Amino acid sequence: MQALVLVGGKGTRLRPLTTEIPKPILTLVDRPFLSYMIEWLGSHGVDEVVLACGFLPDQLEEVLGDGEPGGPSVRYLVEPEPLGTGGAIRFALPELEERFFALNGDVLTDLDLSALWDSHLDRGARASLGLYPVEDPTGYGLVDLADDGRVLDFHEKPEPGHAGAGLINAGTYVLEKSAFDGVPEGREVSIEREIFPGLVGNGLYGVRLDGYWVDIGTPDRYLDASWDIIEGRVTTEVETDPSGVHVDPGATISGEATIGPRAVVASGCTIGPGAEVTGSVLLDGCEIGKDAVVSNSILSAGVNVAAGANVSDRVLGKQESVNA
Ligand code: GDD
Ligand code: MG
Repeated sequence: MQALVLVGGKGTRLRPLTTEIPKPILTLVDRPFLSYMIEWLGSHGVDEVVLACGFLPDQLEEVLGDGEPGGPSVRYLVEPEPLGTGGAIRFALPELEERFFALNGDVLTDLDLSALWDSHLDRGARASLGLYPVEDPTGYGLVDLADDGRVLDFHEKPEPGHAGAGLINAGTYVLEKSAFDGVPEGREVSIEREIFPGLVGNGLYGVRLDGYWVDIGTPDRYLDASWDIIEGRVTTEVETDPSGVHVDPGATISGEATIGPRAVVASGCTIGPGAEVTGSVLLDGCEIGKDAVVSNSILSAGVNVAAGANVSDRVLGKQESVNA
């Protein structure tokens, strides 16, 4: 089985974390974000992952290569220019089988993809959407479903006040190539705004899927996703810890420092005596001085926090320094 993963977005809401590192390979707990998606796809029988890149994937290729031994193979397709979610899939069609998974590449999830595939076959659908219940659908695609699973309406980014809790598009699809009949090549097309609304009544189905799902596009959600992984609320291969702490063996931590509840300390970090790190993620090689306090923050690689300094509710870019 093949999966096409859309990774062409810019990740602007996670800056400065994503100023130098594309969101798909930003470290989440102990591995590049996209590794979770590749593992999850592999666990549902996918053996080839095609990454649809809107711009040069050099850094992605360097980190993810052609996949892990025993997992799905990984390859890269680069659009001549970003073509939008639908245009990117249209561009990739010559590389794909008649039926394939397509996914937004910015979600952390363990939803039951196999159930989506089975329902797609049972219903003879052209496109099947995995759906997830949320309290506020305004930042998502809102889907109205008939009892038999037909999509009655697909409404991308409904206005505030438009609706209360509802089922949203989780960015997980099973698609037939025929869903793209009549879609022109080479221009920007949004699958959510053009293709799905056009398929309503014409083979578009939705399935509510159980499990964990989050779009990690903001700093708060990035932090929450980290604790959800470490505390085991989402199924991953990361070792779990009930206090939400993950310390790399390559970090050096003073016996008199306090780490957690909730903290990620990556390799090469140094934490001085009396320092406190809670609710925070420290990427590679951060230095936290004596008696410094870091709370509810994300520190990019090589950040230096001086002795006695206080960092609270911050997102710091690569190698920034904070003085006391
Ligand atoms: N290759 C490529 N080319 N990928 C793209 C492009 C493009 O031009 N534009 C966006 N993408 C990728 C992004 O990197 C991301 O992984 C995915 O497509 C979705 O784009 P976002 O920009 O993150 O969309 P969104 O989060 O506002 O909304 C989408 O996701 C929601 C769920 O998180 C929609 O699909 C909503 O309907 C959905 O509810
Ligand atoms: Mg998104």
